[in-house]
Amino acid sequence: CKGFNGLEKVVLREVRGSSAEVYLHGAHVTSWKNDHGEELLFVSSKAGFEPTKTNSLLAATIRLTRQLSGHAAFKPPKAIRGGIPICFPQFSNMGSLDQHGFARNRLWSVDEDPPPFPTTSSNKAFVDLILKTSDEDLKCWPHSYEFRLRVTLGPGGDLMLTSRIRNTNTDGKPFTFTFAYHTYFSVSDISEVRVEGLETIDYLDNLQDRERFTEQGDAITFESEVDKIYLSTPTKIAILDHEKKRTFVLRKDGLPDAVVWNPWDKKAKAMVDFGDDEYKHMLCVEAAAVEKPITLKPGEEWRGRQELSAVPSSYCSGQ
Ligand code: BG6
Repeated sequence: CKGFNGLEKVVLREVRGSSAEVYLHGAHVTSWKNDHGEELLFVSSKAGFEPTKTNSLLAATIRLTRQLSGHAAFKPPKAIRGGIPICFPQFSNMGSLDQHGFARNRLWSVDEDPPPFPTTSSNKAFVDLILKTSDEDLKCWPHSYEFRLRVTLGPGGDLMLTSRIRNTNTDGKPFTFTFAYHTYFSVSDISEVRVEGLETIDYLDNLQDRERFTEQGDAITFESEVDKIYLSTPTKIAILDHEKKRTFVLRKDGLPDAVVWNPWDKKAKAMVDFGDDEYKHMLCVEAAAVEKPITLKPGEEWRGRQELSAVPSSYCSGQ
């Protein structure tokens, strides 16, 4: 169906009431709701993009208001600020491409005839999307690829993203890429949030010239800007929202690293598509492959999976 700015989106619904929305622009998950209808992902109010408002008159009014007030409305080819942008074939500015690569800015297609995915059972709602090399991509990244993404909503409302990237070069050349599921979690108050699972792990600090440090002590808490790439982390990371009494559990496969980002107040003010105080209500924890780029020879395929669940905090104790 049509979403904001007339862009096409796919809505997944699960019988108990949870749902997810995926825009073809960027294969971007913009909404993930639990069975009480609560939104679990953060999308900026300044993104010029309202995931739940599909009424065209309302959308036109929002758009006009933003234009008149000088706000940067979301418009392709810009990425949507929030949800789950996909960073491919480059994470961050660690290469010659634009920040986070081009996949988040491309128009994907629904893959009507995907090859079988071993992990999906019949009682799950899912959609398959595909992105292939375009002339535009070839100018900056001279490789032929097929990127298939399956977005699955499980019976308990779990959200799973599985990427399969294949080298379809016919010139015999391998290609190399870095990757992240740039997930913006919605949190009640960042100062009440803890991240567990990254203690004692080495990280590169983006705020200190990517120097390498080792995380100390207990769970990570937040009181200033954070932009770290944790290396070779455990496959399970928990984000505990004390105020909401909710724990997000992120599980990953094929993605050794994890990025943790919150822009805090100064950087928030500098971003045109991000509200000044919105940093208090979001935290990015991103399953990623950054430190050791992935190389694929022609015909080879890589898989990377991120699975998210949101559970009442008490259920998680002792896990
Ligand atoms: C994070 C990076 O993943 O994304 C940060 O670690 C970056 O350095 C942030 O600022 C947002 O990136 P962008 O391109 O969406 O503004």
